[in-house]
Amino acid sequence: MPSVTPAEADARVREHLPEIQWIKDRELAEAVLRIWSRAWRTSVWADLRTVPKSPDLPERRTLITHTRAVTQIAERMVDVETALHGVSIDLDRTLAIALLHDVCKLHEFAPDPSGDSPSGARFSRTGRLYQHGYLGAQWMAEEGLDEELIHGVLAHTPLSSVVPQTQEAVVVHYADFVDSDVQLLDAGLRLFCKRRQP
Ligand SMILES: [Fe+2]
Repeated sequence: MPSVTPAEADARVREHLPEIQWIKDRELAEAVLRIWSRAWRTSVWADLRTVPKSPDLPERRTLITHTRAVTQIAERMVDVETALHGVSIDLDRTLAIALLHDVCKLHEFAPDPSGDSPSGARFSRTGRLYQHGYLGAQWMAEEGLDEELIHGVLAHTPLSSVVPQTQEAVVVHYADFVDSDVQLLDAGLRLFCKRRQP
């Protein structure tokens, strides 16, 4: 568990995830910050920057960098789809879903000092017991975030039986696929787009 006060944790999360400040709705931005901050303070990770994107990927592929990439890709996707097709997609809500889509990994993964894992991490007991995405959804519900935002996090993963049913959830689902598959191809691993159910 990191030895930081809640205020220090907030400051560190703000520093590592500057995209939180892109959310114009201050209440929503603060809720995203509180979820990340509490998830980190109650995790086994001393340094937020060492949490991997995945146990299978090299350790330089971190959760923070992945979260930032998905958020930035999603922001551009909203821009393109609204400008060229005139589709209504809420940018604040898309950013919130993107920022929170993998926050559960702070508890789903744990450091693995054995040297057997390329990332230096493994799935925790929590990560083996709970379906990916569940914990983030629970923390969002505890913060009073609405069910369509929670749906966006639950539907982002190919492990979910729930198909994205809002434009914001669709955007984050594919933004996550882009960043994940770029990293998986680079590492010579099986792509997310090949893991879908028929
Ligand atoms: Fe995920």
